[in-house]
Amino acid sequence: MDTIVIHGGRPLRGCVHLRGAKNAALPLMAASILAESPCVLHNVPCLHDIFSMDKLLSHMGAITEFTGRYMTLDTTPITTPYAPYDLVRKMRASFFVLGPLVARFGRARVSLPGGCAIGTRPVDIHLKGLEALGCSIELDEGYVIAEGRLRGASFSLDFPSVGATETLIMAASRAEGVTRLTNAAREPEIEDLADFLNAMGAQIAGAGTDTVTITGVPELKGVEHTVIPDRIEAGTFLIAGAVTHGDVTVLDAREAHLTSFLEKLRATGAEVESCGNDIRVNARDDLRAVDLITQPYPGFPTDLQAQMMALLSCADGNGTIKETVFENRFMQAAELNRMGADIELSGNTAIIRGVPYLKGAPVMASDLRASASLVIAGLSAPRGETLVQRVYHIDRGYERIEERLAALGADIRRVRE
Ligand code: UD1
Repeated sequence: MDTIVIHGGRPLRGCVHLRGAKNAALPLMAASILAESPCVLHNVPCLHDIFSMDKLLSHMGAITEFTGRYMTLDTTPITTPYAPYDLVRKMRASFFVLGPLVARFGRARVSLPGGCAIGTRPVDIHLKGLEALGCSIELDEGYVIAEGRLRGASFSLDFPSVGATETLIMAASRAEGVTRLTNAAREPEIEDLADFLNAMGAQIAGAGTDTVTITGVPELKGVEHTVIPDRIEAGTFLIAGAVTHGDVTVLDAREAHLTSFLEKLRATGAEVESCGNDIRVNARDDLRAVDLITQPYPGFPTDLQAQMMALLSCADGNGTIKETVFENRFMQAAELNRMGADIELSGNTAIIRGVPYLKGAPVMASDLRASASLVIAGLSAPRGETLVQRVYHIDRGYERIEERLAALGADIRRVRE
């Protein structure tokens, strides 16, 4: 297993290009199952999670080609709507294939997912929604067996789950009649999915709001689409810039997707300015502690919570983070404490008492965003060496992160084993 080795304390300076959003690209790849002709996706990030979805689609019979940022997907050869445990367990997002498979084939057998170790992460809302659309659902030996001809219906989500909203939008696109989803998730990735499907011939209105109306159509055609930039990657690089008292610009960002995050980053005292599609952070002075609560979009994103915890660990004063989206998503706290942070956990709240600086140490990544938090902590630490182990977590969501941070002036390298 690879290790990332960091000698921190160097201010990051320069520009970094954002990749396409992993969380947008994955459902788009699954949605290609609905098309009667090949699709082309541009700006697809080169990540392990993308390879996992590619492998799953190919296993089902799709013909895919991924060269650089450009992916072609021909799902017309798929004949077996079956997603096996071995391929689904590695990544929760593999479950996205369920909705499109059942919409296209009238049946599907998909393993229950695995994914990040952040709470139990059930899929009950996906399944209840499909049942509302007329699907019969059975659970058998770890598999979901879904069957039925889908018909439009009204369905209110118990919680605005991103994945469930996406599953239901995809399924309803080819259902008979009109589906109305209320309490839907509003994340930008959902709007991107709706844009893709609408270009394919779907009729989806209201994506990006809490009420989405989908008028089913019998057929969808393949189209070309460009994946939106990754807002979580943008936030991660901006935090890394701030915590090292650097001057970093993320290129090709969408400020509107980052509003609540940028508000908090500014509240720490970091100077943040936008110019067109670029966002620059400049942090000359010491950063101040802030309090934040993670919430579904447009609230503060849970996927930037761990990275902000690294920042607050060495900010002036005491800050708190309340995690309301996932249970058990503070895996990074104990590792940050090993680097000299002073973090106390109380249920879903973390109390972070800022220390003057963190110290390098060997630490273990436990999930994708926790590993980004440890890299940021390592970059900030002026003394000692940080060794981040279990780097495969970070490779799931960040493309060649060490090379891109090194290009900004960080002393960081990957040791391959
Ligand atoms: C997506 C993102 C992930 C992000 C999360 C929240 C992708 C590939 N992943 O994950 O990076 O952290 O949104 O912004 O897009 N829940 C249920 N029942 C369900 C579904 C979800 O109880 O059927 C719960 C989950 O356990 C969790 C919460 O709802 O506590 C949010 O989950 P959800 O919004 O579904 O996240 P994902 O789509 O898995």
